[in-house]
Amino acid sequence: MPRRIILDCDPGHDDAIALLLAHGNPDIELAAVTTVMGNAGIENVTRNALSVARIAGITGVPFARGSARPLVRTVEYAPDIHGDSGLDGPVLPEPAFEVDPRSAVQLIIDTIMESEPGTITLVPTGALTNIALAARLEPRIVPRVREVVLMGGGVHGGNWSPTSEFNIVIDPEAAHIVFNESWPVTMVGIDVTHKALATPEVRERIAAVGTKPSVFVGELLDFFGATYLEAQGFTSPPVHDPVTVAYIIDPAVLEVVKAPLDVELSGSLTLGMTVADLRRPAPADCTTQVALGIDEARFWDLVVDALERIGDPEA
Ligand code: BDR
Ligand code: CA
Repeated sequence: MPRRIILDCDPGHDDAIALLLAHGNPDIELAAVTTVMGNAGIENVTRNALSVARIAGITGVPFARGSARPLVRTVEYAPDIHGDSGLDGPVLPEPAFEVDPRSAVQLIIDTIMESEPGTITLVPTGALTNIALAARLEPRIVPRVREVVLMGGGVHGGNWSPTSEFNIVIDPEAAHIVFNESWPVTMVGIDVTHKALATPEVRERIAAVGTKPSVFVGELLDFFGATYLEAQGFTSPPVHDPVTVAYIIDPAVLEVVKAPLDVELSGSLTLGMTVADLRRPAPADCTTQVALGIDEARFWDLVVDALERIGDPEA
């Protein structure tokens, strides 16, 4: 049985690749895709998600527009990494279908409540605003969720500030809610995603697939590579978000350890810092875990394999 996931995302170059990986791998079934502001405004990231769906050949999956603002803070975007559109670089096709009339939060709740308990995995690759709102609006979803596997945070530092990672720091109150619910949470942070680098060798493998979706990924990585070099000094760009999906497909992609996890809400220098208690042993009732190591080769094999399986949907 494939794992049924809800991908809650802000495409976003790496979010787009996460969507392609989820669609292209037979062990994953996309139950729904929801958007949240982050890399750009909600209209942009929602349109981007629909355009990527067309490129990937995704049909029959509900997509819904989510939160336009964080719970408490003033909204912040990431144009220095993703451009003003949130997905600068490739020319995007017109979407082939429209968003679901429900809000992202309602679609998340409905999908979980209509599914067998313990079957839906939440995969947030943006701010945690929608997920936090869904948990507050319908608390009965919490015990029904199989697990939350999120991209965000970091144990040993940040990227948006010295201590804090973008997805967490733009809505730290939402992260606080998600980390402190009783569902199992796996934090896939920049400790590991900064090693998921699209090196020249990786890019050659992607180009060799030779399909329109692989050309699209190449164009995404051209733009992402240039901005990551300019803004953060990376010679190959870190492709964060699909690491979550890869871990669900094959847990051997990541080395994870159980650790109590929380987020800093009041530090004047450390707002949005994720704090993992790595003292051993972890408490027996600990429901959170953090990724500390990655098998990059296994990760990229899954991305290339998904692109090969997707082929040329419109050809
Ligand atoms: C995260 O922030 C976003 O810019 C990326 O899409 C990723 O989810 C990395 O810090
Ligand atoms: Ca993202």
